[in-house]
Amino acid sequence: MFVFTELQLKHLLIKNRLCRSATNEHLGTEEGCVTDELCEFYSKLARNRVGLIFTSHFCIAEGGRGDNRQIMISDDRFIDGLSRLPQAVRPYGAKIVAQINHAGAKIRENANPAGSMITSSTPDRPDFMTGEQIARIREAYIAAAYRAKTAGFDGVQVHVAHGYLLTQFLDPTNRRSDEYGGCSKNRFRLIREIIAGIHERCGESFPVFVKINCNCKEPENYDFLEIAGWLEELGIEAMELSGYDFGDFEKSYMRPYYLEPALKVKSSLKIPVIIAGGLHDAATAQETIDRGVDAVSFSRALLREPDLFEKFYLDRSYVAKCVHCNACYSTYSTVFKHCAFEKSTNARLEENYKGNREWQALKSK
Ligand SMILES: Cc1cc2nc3c(=O)[nH]c(=O)nc-3n(C[C@H](O)[C@H](O)[C@H](O)COP(=O)(O)O)c2cc1C
Repeated sequence: MFVFTELQLKHLLIKNRLCRSATNEHLGTEEGCVTDELCEFYSKLARNRVGLIFTSHFCIAEGGRGDNRQIMISDDRFIDGLSRLPQAVRPYGAKIVAQINHAGAKIRENANPAGSMITSSTPDRPDFMTGEQIARIREAYIAAAYRAKTAGFDGVQVHVAHGYLLTQFLDPTNRRSDEYGGCSKNRFRLIREIIAGIHERCGESFPVFVKINCNCKEPENYDFLEIAGWLEELGIEAMELSGYDFGDFEKSYMRPYYLEPALKVKSSLKIPVIIAGGLHDAATAQETIDRGVDAVSFSRALLREPDLFEKFYLDRSYVAKCVHCNACYSTYSTVFKHCAFEKSTNARLEENYKGNREWQALKSK
């Protein structure tokens, strides 16, 4: 199947098989509102042949922010601002899905009101959530999905990757002894309840995606195929595969990091699979699709070149300029998420950080 061929999911028709993986841009306001700059960035992606845009992780509840300037979807007052994003991309035929998240034990303390720490039950932070807190968070995810629908998004993506709250439940490092801990079925319980709740509140036809780690630090207690099977049973639109170690690969390893688990899912289940991590060039994207993965998604390479897919369209041998230097990770807490080496996208960065030694050091790497 050609990478620019349409992809028909359960409810959503995507114009091609090229996605933008959720990437926090740090372009919201301090309060978490959408800015003109963010709209322009998404519009640029859409104008340049991104078929499906997963937004940055929007925070579902006050106190759940993992990043400064993270976009909030925690209250109805954010809906009008949020609706500007679907409006920005729709004229170009792109679909846009809001990623919803609570950082759990990974909250960034200076991005949240004092005292808002909340966690599941990780060994290093054993302040277990109470049943009442779990119910409140479940409702916050469901309400956030409904706001995304009201704002005009084409669906939501529940973030179950990269160590945030729902990963903290799902991982075997969850040491709870109640019905949300212990066996894998229990650790999956909250995710199941959230997805079922979203279907009930938003209607079965409102697309729900899940981004999920295909691995974890205690692999003997993590059966990824079993989890994928449960997601299929729940009738989600598609799963996007990632891994807890997505930032640890050698810079020179520019191939889909998680191809093997993706192919395993494809060989035994029917659920559509999108693969994230390590994608870099048009030929590998095509090869990945040829091997049976439904769609591919890119993060870092699109920070450097938001018009990357247009370049792929014009030249099937095109290779992204991104060198996976990971400066965009290193700057995670301090500066915006545009590529540290692409000056044209960084006029504001340059201006804001011209006297900042950390920034200068990164640039001279
Ligand atoms: C600067 C930056 C911000 C990111 N923000 C998010 C995010 O908000 N949500 C998410 O699920 N993944 C996030 N990721 C991870 C990417 O979506 C992706 O899974 C990972 O970077 C691997 O893909 P790549 O090799 O194409 O960069 C982020 C990655 C980077 C580099």
